[in-house]
Amino acid sequence: TGAVPFHGANQAGIVTPAQDRLHFVAFDVLTRDRDRLVEMLRQWTAAAARMTAGRDAGTIGAVNGIPEAPPDDTGEALGLPPSGLTITVGFGPTLFRDASGRDRFGLAARRPAALAELPRFAGDALRPEISGGDLCVQACANDPQVAVHAIRNLARIGMGVVSVRWSQLGFGRTSSTSRDQATPRNLFGFKDGTANLKAEDTDLLRDHLWVLPGDGPDWMTGGSYLVTRKIRMTVETWDRSSLAEQEAVVGRTKGAGAPLGRTAEFDEPDFAATGDDGQPVIPVDSHVRLAHPDTNGGARLLRRGYNFVDGSDGLGRLDAGLFFMAYQRDPRRQFVPIQTRLSRNDAMNEYLRHVSSAIFACPPGVRDAADFFGAALF
Ligand code: HEM
Repeated sequence: TGAVPFHGANQAGIVTPAQDRLHFVAFDVLTRDRDRLVEMLRQWTAAAARMTAGRDAGTIGAVNGIPEAPPDDTGEALGLPPSGLTITVGFGPTLFRDASGRDRFGLAARRPAALAELPRFAGDALRPEISGGDLCVQACANDPQVAVHAIRNLARIGMGVVSVRWSQLGFGRTSSTSRDQATPRNLFGFKDGTANLKAEDTDLLRDHLWVLPGDGPDWMTGGSYLVTRKIRMTVETWDRSSLAEQEAVVGRTKGAGAPLGRTAEFDEPDFAATGDDGQPVIPVDSHVRLAHPDTNGGARLLRRGYNFVDGSDGLGRLDAGLFFMAYQRDPRRQFVPIQTRLSRNDAMNEYLRHVSSAIFACPPGVRDAADFFGAALF
């Protein structure tokens, strides 16, 4: 229920122990006026600092203003604690150059090479209207009302400057980002987040998570790149497959979450081990083998995804899956090669469909009250 510090060298909501709930939104920028965009980012920053401390979005508050004016907070979080709220902001490639090639804000020369549109992957079934976006805001909290309140107020503040392109609610974090957290389960019923990058792995975070000086333009130093993928999981098909098949697909046991052939969750997988039949104990097309750093030139991700169930699809199936989110230092060396491999060979693909995709550059943290999201970019 406590507050997560808002100011710092890195944005909160990345290595912050993953909260239970997510409200994620991608915006398109409506204005062509760079000053209006910057002014909105300043207002977002001030509102985010207040809301993450458990206060109203505006300085007057939901109920203290004059009766003739709309309140500067929408009110649904009145009386609720901060609930671990974090607000993390990112910039999409189209902010720098839009789909028709226009450089609306004079930013094209400042686009990091790492912020490239993702390639098309085998099997992608992306819906453009729920993909991409000029800006994103990730709100995570332990109370869904608090996360929704944060996004709603930022959208309200941005009225006329940005419009909501798409948004996603998530529950039941599917990753641990700290060793203090027990590993949660995804909607396939498997532990998810066992071999994730964790807040305590400071050396690995330096190598794989945070943008270092010299990686690209200075304004991203201390930031991180976010890839989101909405992955529909055909749970009805999964639920008809045998336990042995499920474990072979993942490459881990369903109960303990141990690598196949081992006993405990955090045992190292032995990819060389073979069974009595001479076949690898961890199948060659299993998710864990294909996603593992050994298969991907050492590449790692900080996964921070959430389960979703968006009702049902009208055909008698749950519209359910994983809203995959991963932070990294350079998607060209991390997400892209890993997903290229997974999209071609992963046995799990039989049960998955990627329906939305986006990439964002999340700038470094807001240092103090004078600073704002992305100040060094503008
Ligand atoms: C590991 C599930 C999509 C990358 C795992 C594990 C599970 C899992 C159960 C093993 C436990 C763990 O270490 O966390 C899923 C499901 C997905 C999905 C259900 C889709 C709905 C993806 C995607 C990527 C990815 C799209 C990246 C492109 C990884 C990585 C690991 C992992 C890097 C750790 C591998 C290791 O080092 O052992 N996933 N995953 N996953 N997954 Fe996924």
